[in-house]
Amino acid sequence: MAGAFEPILTAGIGRMALERIEVYESQGGYEALRKAVRQMTPQAVQKEVTDSNLRGRGGAGFPTGRKWSFLPDDGRPRYLVCNADESEPGTFKDRLLLERNPHLVIEGIMLAGYAIGAARAFVYLRGEFRQAYEVLQRALAEARRRSYVGDRVLGSDFSLEIVVHRGAGAYICGEETGLLSSLQGGRGEPRLKPPFPATAGLYGQPTVVNNVETLACVPSIVSRGARWFASIGSPKSPGPKIFSVSGRVRRPGNYELPLGTPLREILFEHAGGLEPGRRIKAVQPGGGSSAILTEAHLDVAMDFDSVAQAGSMLGSAGVIVLDDRDCIVEAAQVLAEFYAHESCGQCTPCREGLHWAARVLRRIVAGGGRPEDIEVLQSLPSRIAGRTICPLADAGVGFLSSSLKYFVDEYRAHVTLGRCVREAYVA
Ligand SMILES: Cc1cc2nc3c(=O)[nH]c(=O)nc-3n(C[C@H](O)[C@H](O)[C@H](O)COP(=O)(O)O)c2cc1C
Ligand code: SF4
Repeated sequence: MAGAFEPILTAGIGRMALERIEVYESQGGYEALRKAVRQMTPQAVQKEVTDSNLRGRGGAGFPTGRKWSFLPDDGRPRYLVCNADESEPGTFKDRLLLERNPHLVIEGIMLAGYAIGAARAFVYLRGEFRQAYEVLQRALAEARRRSYVGDRVLGSDFSLEIVVHRGAGAYICGEETGLLSSLQGGRGEPRLKPPFPATAGLYGQPTVVNNVETLACVPSIVSRGARWFASIGSPKSPGPKIFSVSGRVRRPGNYELPLGTPLREILFEHAGGLEPGRRIKAVQPGGGSSAILTEAHLDVAMDFDSVAQAGSMLGSAGVIVLDDRDCIVEAAQVLAEFYAHESCGQCTPCREGLHWAARVLRRIVAGGGRPEDIEVLQSLPSRIAGRTICPLADAGVGFLSSSLKYFVDEYRAHVTLGRCVREAYVA
C-alpha cells in the first residue's frame, strides 16, 4: 500500500510555485469547489466527507463529517474556523501547507463552509507565522479576484468571506474554546465543554473548528470521492497524513504517507534513520504532548487507534526522536517548563502542578535531586491529569509519566550520582 501511495496534500511542493493561483489551477486546483457549487448540494458534500471517514488532523482524530452534523438547524448564523495556531512541539505540517500550498487550504475552507452553510470563515493563524500570513493574504486576494472566495462564488448563490486573524503567541489558543475566546477579543482561556462549539461557539453561535490539514483533505474527497479516500491507509483512520519528524534522525522533515504507515518505516525509510551506531531511546509519536514509545514499539501502525493501543496518541503526528545520547530527565524538564509556561492558570492542578514538576526536574538535572523526588514525580501525574478544564495539563505530564514508566532507573541514577548517565534503561 505504502509503495503505491502518491502524495495528495504536498504533491508539487518543492517543484512548483503552488502559491500562485494559475499554477494551482493548472494542477486541477479549485475544480472541486467548481464541482461542489455547480453540481452538488451542501448536504451531498457533507455526506461525501462523512463517508470518507476523514478524522480531524488537529490532535483528537474526531470524525469530521460527524462534527459538521452536530450543528443545530435552528436558523442562527454558523461559523467555520480553521485552526492554524500550530504550536504543538515537534509539529510543523500546517505551516508547510499554509506557506507552500495555501490555495489547497482556501479551497478546503470554501468547501467546508459550503457544506455547513457558514456565514463567515476565519483562519486563526499562529502569530509567529508571518510568512504564512503574507502568503495567505496574497492567495486570498487572488482567489477573490477569480471568484473562488467572496460574494456569489463562481456565479452561484453561495457567498463566503474568509478573515485571517493572527494570534499573539500562546500555545493554549490552539485549544478550540481558548481559540474562540481569543478570536472574540477575550483572553485565550479554555472553558468547560459542553456546550461544544457546535452549539455555542464563536459569538455564542454554532461553530465548526477544524485543523488546517483536515480542511486540506476536503478538496480531494470532493473531486475523487469518499470511497477513494477511505481506501487509503488504515480502515478506521483513512487518508493521507503529514508526519513531521524531528530530533535524532538524519533527514528530519515533513513526510506525507498513508495513515497506518509503521513507525519504523517513517523513521528508517523516509527520515533516514539514525546516525551510525546510535540506538533509539524514545519516540514521541504525537508531538510534545504524547507519551513516549520505545524501540519495542517501532512496528506500531501510525494511526489513531493503533498508537492509542500502544499507550500513546497519534495527536498531531509530530514524531520526536531521542537516541542514546539524550538524557530523559533533561528532556522531561524541557517539556515540563514549556507546559508550565503555557498554562493559562485557571485550574490549580495545572497552574501549580506543572510548575512543581518543572521545579523538581530542574533540581534533579542540576545535580541536587533528593531520593523522595522520584515519588513526588510519580505521584504528580495522577493528581493533575483529568482534573482540569482542558487537556493541556494531561499533555504536560504525558512525557513525564511515560518516561518514569520506562526509565525510572535513569531518574534514580540521576539523583544518586548527581549527574546524567546517558544510558537507556528500558526493561
Ligand atoms: C492545548 C491544546 C492545544 C491545541 N492546539 C491545536 C493546534 O495548534 N492546532 C489544531 O488544529 N488543534 C489544536 N488543538 C485541538 C483543537 O482543540 C481542536 O480539537 C482541533 O482544532 C479540531 O480540529 P480537527 O477536528 O480538524 O482535528 C489543541 C488542543 C489542545 C488541548
Ligand atoms: S488545564 Fe491548564 S491550560 Fe487548560 S484551562 Fe486549566 S489551567 Fe488553563
